[in-house]
Amino acid sequence: MKYIQLKTEIPGPKAKVMLERRAAATPKGLAKSTEVVVERAEGGLVWDVDGNQLLDFAGGIGMINVGHRPETVVNAIKEQLEKYIHTCSLVTTFEPYIELAEMLNSLTPGDFSKKTLLCNTGTEAVENAVMLARYYTRRPGIICFEGAYHGRSLLTLSLTSKYSLFKKGFGSFPSDIYRLPVPNFYRTPNGMSEAEYLDWNIKNLEHAFIAQVDPESVAAFIIEPVLGEGGFIQMPAAFMQKIRELCDKYGIVMIADEIQSGSGRTGKLFAIEHTGVVPDVMTIAKSLGAGMPVSAVVGKAEIMDCTHLGGIGGTYGGSPVAAVAAIESLKILSSREFLDRAKHVGNLIKSTLDTWKEKYALVGDVRAIGAMCLVEFVKDKSNKEPDLEIPLEVLKDAVAHGIILIRAGLYSNCIRLLPPIVMTDEQLHEGLQVLEDAIARAHEKRGK
Ligand SMILES: Cc1ncc(COP(=O)(O)O)c(C=O)c1O
Repeated sequence: MKYIQLKTEIPGPKAKVMLERRAAATPKGLAKSTEVVVERAEGGLVWDVDGNQLLDFAGGIGMINVGHRPETVVNAIKEQLEKYIHTCSLVTTFEPYIELAEMLNSLTPGDFSKKTLLCNTGTEAVENAVMLARYYTRRPGIICFEGAYHGRSLLTLSLTSKYSLFKKGFGSFPSDIYRLPVPNFYRTPNGMSEAEYLDWNIKNLEHAFIAQVDPESVAAFIIEPVLGEGGFIQMPAAFMQKIRELCDKYGIVMIADEIQSGSGRTGKLFAIEHTGVVPDVMTIAKSLGAGMPVSAVVGKAEIMDCTHLGGIGGTYGGSPVAAVAAIESLKILSSREFLDRAKHVGNLIKSTLDTWKEKYALVGDVRAIGAMCLVEFVKDKSNKEPDLEIPLEVLKDAVAHGIILIRAGLYSNCIRLLPPIVMTDEQLHEGLQVLEDAIARAHEKRGK
């Protein structure tokens, strides 16, 4: 092992002390996928407090596409700190906010006049996008999808799909939210071809206007072009086109939530670009700030301008320190070189994952949309019953051997790979070998 260097078990003695302090000082519900306690990080590497060197295959759940601490981002933050930290966009005007908004207006799809609102988190961006759509249309209804994750405020949690991990115990939820299924080809119902299943899903979109809600009372469709938490499921172009068509027909706002699928991860700056569909509003966060808390709602100027003066905004939104980081991050994310590298990283990982699908009885499916890669575990390949135990065991084992990982999927039966795109081929191969060894051990243990 060249890049992974373990000096103690994980967690080591210093980490254990910190984990005890975390348990004592913070709420139990604040989960963590590993027991890694970080000392510093650079590119694709993380060092823990016991001096262990690990490879980061979680990238802060897709927050670190540009790698940890790119030089230009760090320098921009330092320079900004020398000038001022924040003066609040509701009180004063500062250039980083405007420059970032201008960049996002020009880099997002859509040949129309756009405007950008900056916020702090993905959740806040989604919340604002939905509120703007409601104000603009003067309608209450929102259509969202099975497997979606849109955040954890009460409104965005209501749009989020999965109960067990996210929603349990937090109801009741706001009304006027309608949820429809999405085509997940791995789980195409028996006896149906993929084409028939897709067709059923597309027809179901229109059927919702008979069976569920009056289109004239729907403000927005909100959809992730690739489901993130839901298990890296790419929405087919025809499905997205039908949503666009319905939005145009009934005056509904189409919101694309690109918080996890954007930022160059799939080989295009935004995943919806794979479909040719142009949304009215887009939400962006995670890797936008290279780790700094900044998010954006970018949309048609007439929608973004629809509220009364003072109807949107907040104390911290568009922090100059986060905005300068995002400006530099976005320069990297939107470069040809970076997007080509994302495709290369995706191909490299996918070619390895494909062999696992052949080799291992409990690897039901592997998916890669650019460098958004995932392994789905099942108890039995024939009935595809989700296996919740094995990903937890594999994850624990792989982390103990030096890679940082996180799960995903509506059933929590997947391990997703979101390494920084700057991770080298050698590092990727080394990390994938660690993961494969853990998968092999889990199979051996079960006699598979
Ligand atoms: C698609 C999507 N939307 C919204 C969010 C919420 O973002 P945040 O955690 O920054 O509030 C996430 C976070 O994982 C996400 O993946």
